[in-house]
Amino acid sequence: MIVLIISPGYPADMPHFTRGLAEVGAQVLGVGDQHPQALPEMVRQAMSDYLHVPSLWDEAAVAAQLREWLRGRSLDRIECLWEPAMVLAARLRESLGVPGMRVDQVLPFRDKERMKQVLDDAGIRTPRHFPATSVAECWEAAERIGFPLILKPIAGAGSADTYRLDDRDQLRAVLPRLRHVPVVSVEEFVDGEEYTFDTITIGGEIAYHNIAWYRPRPLIARSNEWISPQVIALRSVDDAALTGGVEMGRQVIAALGFDTGFTHMEWYRKADGEVVFGEIGARPPGAHQVDQMNYACDFDIFREWARAVTAGRFDADIRRLYNVATIYKRARGVGRISAVEGLERIQTEYREAIVWNALLPVGAQRRDWRQTLVSDGFLMLRHRDLTTMLRMADDVATHLTLRAG
Ligand SMILES: Nc1ncnc2c1ncn2[C@@H]1O[C@H](COP(=O)(O)OP(=O)(O)OP(=O)(O)O)[C@@H](O)[C@H]1O
Ligand SMILES: [Mg+2]
Repeated sequence: MIVLIISPGYPADMPHFTRGLAEVGAQVLGVGDQHPQALPEMVRQAMSDYLHVPSLWDEAAVAAQLREWLRGRSLDRIECLWEPAMVLAARLRESLGVPGMRVDQVLPFRDKERMKQVLDDAGIRTPRHFPATSVAECWEAAERIGFPLILKPIAGAGSADTYRLDDRDQLRAVLPRLRHVPVVSVEEFVDGEEYTFDTITIGGEIAYHNIAWYRPRPLIARSNEWISPQVIALRSVDDAALTGGVEMGRQVIAALGFDTGFTHMEWYRKADGEVVFGEIGARPPGAHQVDQMNYACDFDIFREWARAVTAGRFDADIRRLYNVATIYKRARGVGRISAVEGLERIQTEYREAIVWNALLPVGAQRRDWRQTLVSDGFLMLRHRDLTTMLRMADDVATHLTLRAG
């Protein structure tokens, strides 16, 4: 089986997915805009050939370069797990005659208004929503929905340009900041807890699913630098409180006609138990949430994904052994990390639980916490008992402090 993977070296998880393909016996070809010498060693080992293109964003040019480069080698799959290149992958499948999701199947995953329209038609509870392309349309939508409301780009990521607005004054104040966004989605604000529903799906059937709990909700975490955001991969995915989300996830995947690969859905549970759809991507979650799945079940989900897309099978035992918590840290101050306080005690106390310390070391330049949830690094811990897990996570959030400057 010959598999072409788009952007095999970027972002962070792609080298592992590329490795997974090689490990299940596929012949792996890569195409990307990274210079071959900039590719991680793991990727170079896994691939049998790599086409370096000047840009991935001129789809016609990439298709032409690929055809020339392949010279008759025919592809069995074209895989892409990176959000901005999903449509490119679909277009290449169409133009090279490779099976898999086509452009019209992928677009609803990229356009949040289209996505919600398809789901509305299928009877799935989405937040009330209207698309808006002008200031006047934003006001009109706001009148119809009422406050509080959410304003966000239809193709947003990382909560960029996403605002909660409580009244007319706030809407008036924020509109000028959205001038560069061509189409926004105006949505009913849904109050509640926020979870993921992540799957590996094979031919429309869910072979594996993961649920993670965001503490606090991403928009709040993204708006307050002092917060140490937590993502908790839950061990008890069959908990009664989660069944509504699981059921919704199944319906969403069916309604969108998703075929084979990773999906990442976000959903909300209101205080009264009502479950509301958030968004879905035809790709895995970021910020090392895929690694959380591995630590939760002690398997290699990168390889299992590869088996799913190449052989249509999910072979690993799904033993849900642990809850896994990732606590992302933001240093206080600017510039370089100058101190990490509280780590020694935490390392002693939770020695058994800590599976990954990815905190920036002293001397490293701070990252932009608004650009990346990973921020100035993270600690990942696991524990069988959720209450204990949450206590540990809160301890790390509160008592581990990175300083900068
Ligand atoms: N209708 C809504 N009601 C309440 N909160 C919302 C709503 N829409 C978005 N949010 C908040 O804003 C966050 C970002 O929105 P959304 O997930 O749609 O955008 P995104 O930029 O694609 O996110 P990301 O890439 O970070 O997953 C959500 O996680 C949620 O906390
Ligand atoms: Mg989101």
